[in-house]
Amino acid sequence: MNPTFRLLPEQASTTAVHVDHLAIYLMTVAVIFSTLIFFFIFYFAVKYRRRAEHERTGDIKSPLLLEILWSVIPFILMMVMFTWGASVFFEMSRPPDDAMNVYVVGKQWMWKAQHVEGQREINQLHVPLGRPVRLTMTSEDVIHSFYMPAFRVKFDVLPGRYTTAWFHPTKPGQYHLFCAEYCGTQHSGMIGSIYVMEPAEYETWLAGGAGGESLAANGQKLFQYLACANCHRTDKPGRGPNLEGLFGTPVQLTSGETVNADEAYVRESILNPSAKVVAGFQNIMPTFQGLVTEEDLLQLIEYVKSLAKPKGQPTAPPSGAMPPALAGRGTSGKAGPKSGTVQKR
Ligand code: CUA
Repeated sequence: MNPTFRLLPEQASTTAVHVDHLAIYLMTVAVIFSTLIFFFIFYFAVKYRRRAEHERTGDIKSPLLLEILWSVIPFILMMVMFTWGASVFFEMSRPPDDAMNVYVVGKQWMWKAQHVEGQREINQLHVPLGRPVRLTMTSEDVIHSFYMPAFRVKFDVLPGRYTTAWFHPTKPGQYHLFCAEYCGTQHSGMIGSIYVMEPAEYETWLAGGAGGESLAANGQKLFQYLACANCHRTDKPGRGPNLEGLFGTPVQLTSGETVNADEAYVRESILNPSAKVVAGFQNIMPTFQGLVTEEDLLQLIEYVKSLAKPKGQPTAPPSGAMPPALAGRGTSGKAGPKSGTVQKR
């Protein structure tokens, strides 16, 4: 470890630079104005001290120019903070489209990561250099917070919800991972390491180790095991909607609402199927609450995702069992009237 003193942690991501510049601006403004204010407090206290008994304040005219200046200058400085801060915030909250996806599950007291290719890790995360990484995160128990100082990423990990964070590593090396939300006795031990590797090295790492099947393939097995395929058929109309081409498309519900089929929607439809019933279908699906873990859910989601991708994508499930995904709308098959049309409730 480098024993030299650092004011800020190492910068190892594209956002780190932007966050630091903003932080330095905020700090500079704060320091300059605090200094000025303290200087004038003492200066005026001395200059305008009471010199004699019965001293009276004279007639004071308001200095218009001064008043305009001390309103306009802080206003400009604040607006810079606002627009700059908003732009960094938007950058941090929008993962690039080409980002690779990694799933993270937090639990007391460890971090579990699953790669789309099937690799699993605990308290470690290996990522390739020079590629944006998108984290889709959830918790099995309480609120945790995924904190990687070198990338300036800190995001809450919540039970029952998916949150996403992303970073684009710019330097190879090993970096700290912390839990930044008090989550019980061993919160301080809920730590780990992020390894940023050269792309070739990363490929070797991915190929080695457990060498299991892809997340989508595991999800497909679960799909069969849980007998989902009995109703969600691809060969003929089933009792449940056909899931091919579903992910990422709008779905029309019996309530008249239209929702986007994202991770949260798929998760909810497995755990609480009656919450959002697809138009044209009966509310007959049983809940799978308690039958699937958070990690199972992520595998099922990745499988449903793989059904939406055109043939030949690397994460597609093994060929044979599933016909190529349809490029059409989410609620294909016999699902209701004109799927995809956005309707007013
Ligand atoms: Cu998990 Cu603190």
